[in-house]
Amino acid sequence: MKKIFDTILRKGNNIYTQNLTPHIRVYGEKLIDVHGFQYRKWDPTRSKLAAAILNGLKIFPIKSGSVILYLGISAGTTASHVSDIIGKSGLIYGIEFAERMMRELIKVVKERKNIMPIMADARKPEEYPYVEQVDLVYVDVSQPDETEIAIRNCKEFLKPGGYLMLAIKSQSIDVVKSPKDVYKQEIKKLKKAGFKIESEIELSPYQKDHCFVLAKM
Ligand SMILES: C[S@@+](CC[C@H](N)C(=O)[O-])C[C@H]1O[C@@H](n2cnc3c(N)ncnc32)[C@H](O)[C@@H]1O
Repeated sequence: MKKIFDTILRKGNNIYTQNLTPHIRVYGEKLIDVHGFQYRKWDPTRSKLAAAILNGLKIFPIKSGSVILYLGISAGTTASHVSDIIGKSGLIYGIEFAERMMRELIKVVKERKNIMPIMADARKPEEYPYVEQVDLVYVDVSQPDETEIAIRNCKEFLKPGGYLMLAIKSQSIDVVKSPKDVYKQEIKKLKKAGFKIESEIELSPYQKDHCFVLAKM
């Protein structure tokens, strides 16, 4: 078992985060004990961030105490691992507009006090003006305008020098163009908006036709 990015453990192609809520699972994941601490297995087929780590993400700006705006938090699968990493001193503002997902998320946040669920449309940051300036904006909305949504929210809420993590789903943006051309087109938009691209990582075999982008503002 090797420690990566201070807080994540890796053994072969398996990664784990230290469970903030011992003995409680979020999505049926395996729990293991290592040197007296409990860890949760992080499934790369269920989480694009886990897939990006396994496919070679080198910079990992999520740390203990980080404040994060998460667009498309859904039922909280990935967010629960981010919640493990940021710990009790960090906070995730989780934006979700689907009622069914929000109901599932509520079960997770009952146990995890560092996630604040917000039922809102990520296209309308004016619906959540009380969100503070954050260290990182995480975007996984699977929408044709996901890059524009990311840029708008970063302009409103990201601290200078903060990071954007964007999961680009080519099938949501253009079903005719090749995924590579879609990634290129979306990354060009980020550069034009003033972002510096730190990493672009394709997520196969864990996620089909997805590219994970880490950018700095
Ligand atoms: C691919 S899923 C996210 C999965 C999640 N990030 C994870 O890894 O656990 C996309 C989510 O974004 C939500 N979504 C899409 N468009 C949205 C919008 N404009 N505002 C808020 N939520 C949105 C969907 O309802 C869905 O739950």
